[in-house]
Amino acid sequence: MYKITVIPGDGIGPEVMKAALAVLEASNVEFEYVTARAGNECFKRTGTTIPDETISTAKKTDATLFGAVTTVPGQKSGIITLRRALELYVNLRPVKSYEGTQSLFDDVNFVIVRENTEGLYSGIEEDTEDGATALRVITRNASERICRFAFEYARKTSKKKVTAVHKANVLKKTDGIFKEAFYRVGSDYPEIKMEDFYVDAAAMYLVTRPQDFDVIVTTNLFGDILSDEGAGLVGGLGLIASANVGEKNGLFEPVHGSAPDIAGKGIANPSAMIFSACMMLDYLEEYEEARKLEKAMKDVLKEGKIVTPDLGGSASTMEMADEVKRKFKALNM
Ligand code: NAI
Ligand code: MG
Repeated sequence: MYKITVIPGDGIGPEVMKAALAVLEASNVEFEYVTARAGNECFKRTGTTIPDETISTAKKTDATLFGAVTTVPGQKSGIITLRRALELYVNLRPVKSYEGTQSLFDDVNFVIVRENTEGLYSGIEEDTEDGATALRVITRNASERICRFAFEYARKTSKKKVTAVHKANVLKKTDGIFKEAFYRVGSDYPEIKMEDFYVDAAAMYLVTRPQDFDVIVTTNLFGDILSDEGAGLVGGLGLIASANVGEKNGLFEPVHGSAPDIAGKGIANPSAMIFSACMMLDYLEEYEEARKLEKAMKDVLKEGKIVTPDLGGSASTMEMADEVKRKFKALNM
């Protein structure tokens, strides 16, 4: 029995969360859920986008499922605060093409491992006489930690190669440290191939030969940009899941936001949230369950009959989820 913090959030967040939890009912693994609040609705009621109680609940449970929140300019971002509080130093985003979807390629399967705590997103900016300066913080410790995660992930998932992406020709000191850390850590994994590219070349290779990548490890900003490029390669926001992982906690969320334009209509695509639940199963080392759930999702997408409007179908969120649940259950009989 796992204890899971569930943060539905705003807009379509609660809709896709309800769908994912319904699918998980068909699992052989048992879950106990603790619902917690975050986001704009929460702000209206409590005056904060992320109450301390939500953070302490998430710290205590085995993992957290996060729907999506509406961020209002000027308000503190609940999800960023939560990532920091839980020390989730890895942002993991699988980029996979699924049959039956509008992927630009049909054989893409790689994962981006993005450093989540430093780089250009350290939040250190200063005014200068004629503008401002942003500090790009790179430490040996965080570089080694993220590279170690990437190689361990490659080993666990039987991926053959890890690619480091950097710009060490220009950012000689900071990305020099990152690149060195990559090769130092990688030498502990003799069975895994290593290569490194400058970020500009990597951005091109992602669209010319994305099939060549297995695991990409990179610093914060480059990872942010390349992951959205990855999402574009394989057909859209409704499908893309992500994990935020640290030493003690894991938080799993779709990449999309609260989609106010379709909220309340019951037509949000639940796939990204369900794939996020799938990543949670992997994190909990319930690999067999994760593969079955992934297979159920893949089959529903491939058949393309009971899918939401963004995928070309006419099913509602819950109709699609029920179909995934039915297939998942059949695999679990
Ligand atoms: P969005 O991802 O919510 O929506 C972008 C477009 O994709 C919309 O047309 C929407 O209808 C569509 N879309 C998104 N998810 C979908 C799904 N599951 N099924 C079908 N269509 C889907 O991004 P947008 O519009 O820029 O932001 C809306 C709100 O969400 C903002 O307040 C933003 O700050 C917030 N946001 C929150 C995130 C989070 O909670 N992690 C991430 C991104 C945005
Ligand atoms: Mg982004």
